This record gives sequence, C-alpha cells and structure tokens, in this order.
Amino acid sequence: MPDSMSFEEGAAIPVNYLTTYVMLFNFGNLQEGQSVLCHMAAGGVGYAVGQLCRTVPKVTLYGTCSAGKHEGAKENGYTHLIDYRTQDYVNEIRKLEPEGIDLVLDPLGGTENKRNYDLTKTFGRQIVYGSANIVTGGSRSLMSIAKTWWNTSGRSPLDLMADNKMVGGVHLGHLFTGYYKKILPPAFSDIVRWYNDGIVKPKIDSVHAFEDFTDAFRRIHERKNVGKVLFSPTKSPNSK
Ligand SMILES: NC(=O)c1ccc[n+]([C@@H]2O[C@H](COP(=O)([O-])OP(=O)(O)OC[C@H]3O[C@@H](n4cnc5c(N)ncnc54)[C@H](OP(=O)(O)O)[C@@H]3O)[C@@H](O)[C@H]2O)c1
Repeated sequence: MPDSMSFEEGAAIPVNYLTTYVMLFNFGNLQEGQSVLCHMAAGGVGYAVGQLCRTVPKVTLYGTCSAGKHEGAKENGYTHLIDYRTQDYVNEIRKLEPEGIDLVLDPLGGTENKRNYDLTKTFGRQIVYGSANIVTGGSRSLMSIAKTWWNTSGRSPLDLMADNKMVGGVHLGHLFTGYYKKILPPAFSDIVRWYNDGIVKPKIDSVHAFEDFTDAFRRIHERKNVGKVLFSPTKSPNSK
C-alpha cells in the first residue's frame, strides 16, 4: 500500500479493480475510441470501470443505474447513463449506437444475457461476471435461481462464429490458483500507479462493525449502496 492510502481504501481496491482490469484489458482488449457498457454503474465495480476506462483515450462509456445515482456516476467518467428502472437500456443505447457496443460487461444473467449479447457489436466482446438477477425478493428463492439459470442463454460456438462476436467470463475468485501469478501482480502494479496518479479513487459507501453485518447486507440487498460496503475491526457497533 502507498503511504497515502488508508486501510479502508486498501480494502476497497483489490476485488473491484482487479476484476475491472481483467475485464477491460486482459479479456476486453479495450482500444482507443471504443464503446463500453457497464451495468450497476454506481456499484463498486461500476466506479472502478468509470476510472479505468479513463486510461484509454476517447472511450464512450455507457452505464445503467437508478436515477438518483446518475450525478455521481457521471462525475466518475460515464458518458451516458440510463435509468434501467424506467427506461429500456437496449432501446436507449441503440438510438446512439445503432451498430451496438464494442465491450459489454454483463453481471446480470437471465434474459438480460441474451439482450446484452445482441447489443454487442460485430467484433465486439461480452464479458459475463455475475448473475445478479437471481436475487429477486426479500428472501432466497430457488425458483428465481432456477429461472435465471434457465434463461441465461447457452450459445453454440457456431453462433459466435456466424455473428463474429466473442463471449468470455471472469471470476476473480477462481483466478487465485495457477495462472494468477502471470496476470494479477502486473495488473495490481498498474492499479497502484494509477492510485498514485489520482486516477484510481475507490468509492466507499459505508464502513460497518462486524456486529452490524445485518445492516450492511441489508443495505446491499436494498440497493442503497453507492460504492463499496466495508467491515472494520476498529468500528464501534451501532447501539440498538
Ligand atoms: N466475477 C467476479 O470476479 C466479480 C467480482 C466482483 C463483483 N462481481 C459481481 O459484479 C456485480 C457488481 O458488484 P459490485 O460489488 O459492484 O456491486 P455493488 O457495489 O453492491 O452494487 C450494487 C448496485 O447495483 C445495482 N443492482 C443490484 N442488483 C441489480 C440488478 N439485478 N440489476 C441491475 N442493477 C442492480 C444497485 O444499484 P441501482 O440503484 O442502480 O439499482 C445496487 O446498489 C455483482 O453481481 C457481483 O457479484 C463479480
């Protein structure tokens, strides 16, 4: 950690920024002048995408998030933001990018997986890194998990050939064995350099005591957070 980095920033960086780095650069091969779509633009990964896209010139960055979070996301680097709760992001993006998007980052799963694939340009890349749509209501639903899994399109490699598109997946948690030594340390060096240059500024939503884990997880579940939710051993619990 650089001297100027707080422990909270240090905790907020690795998962969000390494995931983003691998998606944009190792898999995504993001080039000057290309377009990127990132869902959950005001989440921890969404903020990292906004910042790391700035390291490539002339990227047009599309994001989806609820309307109240647009201002912060725009300041963080998004060119166009769509409130996915009130607007169809596919229609809105098509108006501006009739041919589609070069790099689509897809953490949604279910029927959105196919819509994101269709929105990916010829020679474009769709990177799948989550399946957030399995969470629907206030409690765990096996039916919704099964429905999202079923609706997440299984696509033949021959379809990809016919469409001249690429689909990839990134799971940081599965990168810590084997190949990681080649990929993660150089990525982390770049991230720390960009932190020192002021490009990487982790967005911290809130810091909680371990005793308050229910409040912390409820905040995420209710989609209230903007940026990373952290736990700290030095934080005092909320008095009930
Ligand atoms: N594969 C990997 O290695 C990897 C690593 C890190 C994260 N992830 C995945 O990446 C995703 C984002 O992570 P994060 O840490 O950035 O999340 P986060 O900070 O908790 O952001 C969550 C925000 O995203 C929006 N959101 C939540 N569920 C949504 C849904 N079903 N559809 C649309 N928007 C939704 C909500 O904001 P609004 O107000 O805009 O609705 C919510 O506040 C998660 O699915 C996570 O599992 C994967």
